[in-house]
Amino acid sequence: MTSELYDRIGGGYRTHRRPDPRIADAINRVLGDADTVVNVGAGAGSYEPMDRRVVAVEPALSMIRQRGAGTAPVVQASATHLPFRDAAFAAALAILTLHHWPDRERGLAELARVARHRVVILTWDPASRDFWLVADYFPAIATIDRPIFPTMEDIRSVFGHMEIRALPIPHDCSDGFLGAYWRRPHAYLDPGVRGAISTFTKLTTLEPGLTQLRRDLEDGSWERRHLHLLAKSELDLGYRLVIATITGSRGS
Ligand SMILES: C[S@@+](CC[C@H](N)C(=O)[O-])C[C@H]1O[C@@H](n2cnc3c(N)ncnc32)[C@H](O)[C@@H]1O
Repeated sequence: MTSELYDRIGGGYRTHRRPDPRIADAINRVLGDADTVVNVGAGAGSYEPMDRRVVAVEPALSMIRQRGAGTAPVVQASATHLPFRDAAFAAALAILTLHHWPDRERGLAELARVARHRVVILTWDPASRDFWLVADYFPAIATIDRPIFPTMEDIRSVFGHMEIRALPIPHDCSDGFLGAYWRRPHAYLDPGVRGAISTFTKLTTLEPGLTQLRRDLEDGSWERRHLHLLAKSELDLGYRLVIATITGSRGS
């Protein structure tokens, strides 16, 4: 099972990765009337709807331990081998997790197998442009992330019919993933913030990016370059909600 990374870095996840209510609303809406949901790569339980029957799947023990009281029952397993019968759930959900799976195609096929009606995925589209943090300070993040995030075509090849919706990120997003602080640049100087972003933990060195960012913030050059961002309340950074419809009649 491939839980090593999150068993190592997942300890403080809940402090900086609090579910954002606007993202939660968007996910809840596209789950439609699904009454049973399997949340794969569920982590500490962010975005698990409270008004449906949910089963969580998560391989990393450090993440399972952070699931609070009242969260869905959890099975320790990998997306690539879901321990459920075909069409066991009305919907399958996978939030910001696909890029961690050792075999993404197999994991996606497993989502399609266990879902009766729809699969909902939140991921990042590697065809998107790098935002300022990556382009100007940490280009190595792109080198790591682009190959591991599946393309929209990779996902479509598994599901066939699917809708792709842009998910703009609010300027005060409470879920501290990589793009969350696009309008709060000082946050990236905080080791706690970086520790809750998996790609940062994979960088062999943070220099010279960190020094340059600190300098640009101190002398005002970051602000001068990104004045246009400060007036925006949300930004499309390439995060996408994918809603795949399962066709055919398997189960009820
Ligand atoms: C960025 S976290 C997202 C967690 C949660 N979905 C959320 O939105 O907060 C990625 C999660 O994927 C999990 N993961 C890693 N490898 C996995 C695999 N093979 N199958 C399922 N989940 C996996 C990690 O352990 C981690 O909990």
